[in-house]
Amino acid sequence: MDVLIVGGGIIGSSIAFELAKRGASVVVIERGELAQEASSAAAGMLGAHSEFSTDHPLIPLALASQAAFPAVIAELRELTNIEVGWNEAGMLKLATTMEEYEKLTEHYEFWRRIQPQHVRWLTPKEVANMERNVRNEYGAMYTIDQQVNAKQLSVAFAHGAMAKGARVLPYTEVYDFIFERERVVGVKTTSGTLYAERIVIACGAWTPMLAEKLRLSLHMYPVKGECVSVTTETPLLQTTVFAKNGCYIVPKANNRLIIGASAIAHSFAKTVQTCSVQQLLARAMQIVPAIAHSTFENVWAGIRPQTKDGIPYIGAHPQYENVFVVTGHYRNGILLSAITGTIVSDMLERKDVPFDMTPFSLTRKGEGHALHH
Ligand code: FAD
Ligand code: GLY
Repeated sequence: MDVLIVGGGIIGSSIAFELAKRGASVVVIERGELAQEASSAAAGMLGAHSEFSTDHPLIPLALASQAAFPAVIAELRELTNIEVGWNEAGMLKLATTMEEYEKLTEHYEFWRRIQPQHVRWLTPKEVANMERNVRNEYGAMYTIDQQVNAKQLSVAFAHGAMAKGARVLPYTEVYDFIFERERVVGVKTTSGTLYAERIVIACGAWTPMLAEKLRLSLHMYPVKGECVSVTTETPLLQTTVFAKNGCYIVPKANNRLIIGASAIAHSFAKTVQTCSVQQLLARAMQIVPAIAHSTFENVWAGIRPQTKDGIPYIGAHPQYENVFVVTGHYRNGILLSAITGTIVSDMLERKDVPFDMTPFSLTRKGEGHALHH
């Protein structure tokens, strides 16, 4: 095959989709089921404006990815018939204390300078008119963000890739690489060996373990995120509500609300702590008091892949130029999936990428990388 992708999360699947569309012969290898890790835990916000409030190398990619989504969603629907729960109802970014309000006004000013047509400041009265169940004293920043069902979108990318000829091998773990004359020519898996021209490692928070087999020390760590979901008899929200203190409430189909999320560094355990559930619900009820009367539905946790400098790794291995590492999307892998698929496909085809990719390089300065011998 032309390209072997290790990892069937949203990043591996979006790369597979784009490459298969361009005519490459692609295989995705997943140690379990598609989207079984972070990509199914995510709340599904395509929130370019909510996560960044100062300059960051990801902003151009986040905006391009967000802009690409309406067309990508339509294309995936046409190809797969999978309903991914996409909507563009937008988001209210708000404050629950004076201190948060001060940070929020800076956040708003940052975006007003960059994309004035995408953000709007609302007074408390305007917030009440938009979302009558939201308690708000300080006003809010409204942004035109979109959202999806993260797991369904991840699966749709993989099925879209299959519709274009890609193969997915579930329940197959890659544990090492095959080397021939100082080149990586394939992988060793729990189901046997596979050879490929190029290999993409997109294993989320587990990428460093595989990268070590290629003598690459990635400066990464896992960050567990816990969520709660509740249901209500009538809809409580139309827009996503995201407080400056990190609490978000995302309205889904069938009057379901996802309430997120904790951020517990250095944990691979997908357990949910009782105190996290208590804190998530308390913060959510502070913003939408009617949540107190909702019906409890579920709790879950996922492991976000974070890098030490907060910038994903997207690039070729410094020694094995046919091996690419794509990971570290931390809180924004769903949002960044569309553009990551396009960028990595361009890189594999040796085309010019229309973004400055230097900050994402595996050989960037500082804490970014170490190739050891
Ligand atoms: P993963 O989804 O973790 O996929 C990696 C895959 O690789 C897994 O399926 C794993 O089984 C497989 N794998 C690992 N090792 C091997 C191996 N050796 N062989 C074969 N397969 C292997 N982002 C947003 O943009 N919006 C949100 O609203 C949002 N909300 C979030 C809420 C929570 C609670 C969490 C935890 C995350 C959230 N994120 C959100 C972040 C987003 O989920 C991640 O950035 C994204 O899912 C990362 O995708 P990935 O494909 O890199 O990793
Ligand atoms: N982007 C939301 C989260 O990671 O929790």
